[in-house]
Amino acid sequence: MDSDGRIDPWASQQSTDYARIRDQFGLGSIDISKIPNPGILHRRGLVFAHRDLDVILGCMRRSDPFGVLTGLMPSGKMHLGHSMVIDQVRWFQEQGGDVTVTVADLEALATRGTSLEDGRENALQEYIHNYAALGLNPKSTNVYFQSTRPSVQRLAFTLGRRTNLSEFEAIYGFKGETNLAHVQAPLVQVGDIVHPQLDEFGGLRPIVVPVGVDQDPHLRLTRGITSKTHWFNVKTRKNGGLSVTLSVQEDNSELFGVSQNGRVDRNIRDSIFENLKTSLKPMGYSDYISNPKHGILDIPGAKEEDFPQVRMCVLALERQMGGMGLMPPCSTYHRFAIGMTGDKMSSSKPETTIFMDDSIESMSKKVNRAYSGGQPTVEEHRRLGGDCSKDVAFQYLQFFFEQDDNELLRIGREYESGKLLAGEIKQICIDRASEWLSDLSDKRDMWDGRLDEFLAQDSI
Ligand code: TRP
Repeated sequence: MDSDGRIDPWASQQSTDYARIRDQFGLGSIDISKIPNPGILHRRGLVFAHRDLDVILGCMRRSDPFGVLTGLMPSGKMHLGHSMVIDQVRWFQEQGGDVTVTVADLEALATRGTSLEDGRENALQEYIHNYAALGLNPKSTNVYFQSTRPSVQRLAFTLGRRTNLSEFEAIYGFKGETNLAHVQAPLVQVGDIVHPQLDEFGGLRPIVVPVGVDQDPHLRLTRGITSKTHWFNVKTRKNGGLSVTLSVQEDNSELFGVSQNGRVDRNIRDSIFENLKTSLKPMGYSDYISNPKHGILDIPGAKEEDFPQVRMCVLALERQMGGMGLMPPCSTYHRFAIGMTGDKMSSSKPETTIFMDDSIESMSKKVNRAYSGGQPTVEEHRRLGGDCSKDVAFQYLQFFFEQDDNELLRIGREYESGKLLAGEIKQICIDRASEWLSDLSDKRDMWDGRLDEFLAQDSI
């Protein structure tokens, strides 16, 4: 986060003041009791915030369709940090979501100078191969490339009309000298995030995007832009219930019965309100208060938790009438695992992380050299105990390698009481990491030559 309180998605430094980020950007807290079959990232508080996750949880409860979208930069090597997002994607997939994976080859070309050919090669061998090994199900996974999906680029242009340079300045801190490649990339990412809702890619349904907080600016931008396209707004009523209001804009004013001189055609309005009520029929409300002239439909009997479904109904109507009908994306945010040297993890600094194809030997060396929460001498360690909040070995067990909560608890307790020494907890980490890496390597072998199963039709 910079001094103006912005998050820079391209920065090499990350803020880890998660509570402040959550409050400043209005993210929701995760209520673990509402999460079905919570995974270790949920149980251990490592997924710490969200936007509109309740919309997705509602879909899970009702077995309604929802999508998951994730994206990767096809440059560099895949490491542990990247695997956290895939753990979340897999969890959403197991709960019924269909998965779309963006290969951000245009973004890599624009911001890093990676050629499209190199980007493709890197994406498949380095990332998709490991996603397969980490357990994504090819039956409901579609990998695509930004460069070969014109619908994404078309959306970037269409939706670009709904934002301007001042908003980019406010969100990203762009200035006069900002390279235009950086200005284009967020708009393409808006296209990535929104496009699975297009009819040709699965149709209207909520999409959740699990990310690290560094990507939240893109989500804020996308949510803002999609809201601006809405022809109907759903609001909470002061005196209970929900209301739907018309949002009259250039592209719908005629359809909404507003004539050149600003007069409202009552017949057209009345028929729109009839259509609205028909669209809302599945919700089973008996009572409406219509004010077609002012473009307000009150639903006193609607409950707060009906909000997402009411919005889906009116978005479907918007589509029938010729609007875009786009649901704002939902998102979840995870904490970053600390780098092994105590600073940020980065693929350009191999000593800060473990790569998915590191040898056991290289991994062991890194763990042995990793930042420790132990005391300088054995005597002091026995007396004062280790500090789990700083210890890389403990945290990697917590984030990645130890699946058993009780075992993790025991290790943490013994380390903090001084019973386990720094070298001993490192050895436990090495043992677990060895199993993890060799298992992953076996699974990669299983998927050798079969990655096409994960690719969308337009990407083979
Ligand atoms: N910008 C992302 C990165 O730097 C990659 C990306 C492109 C992405 N499109 C996306 C991530 C959509 C999530 C969703 O890694």
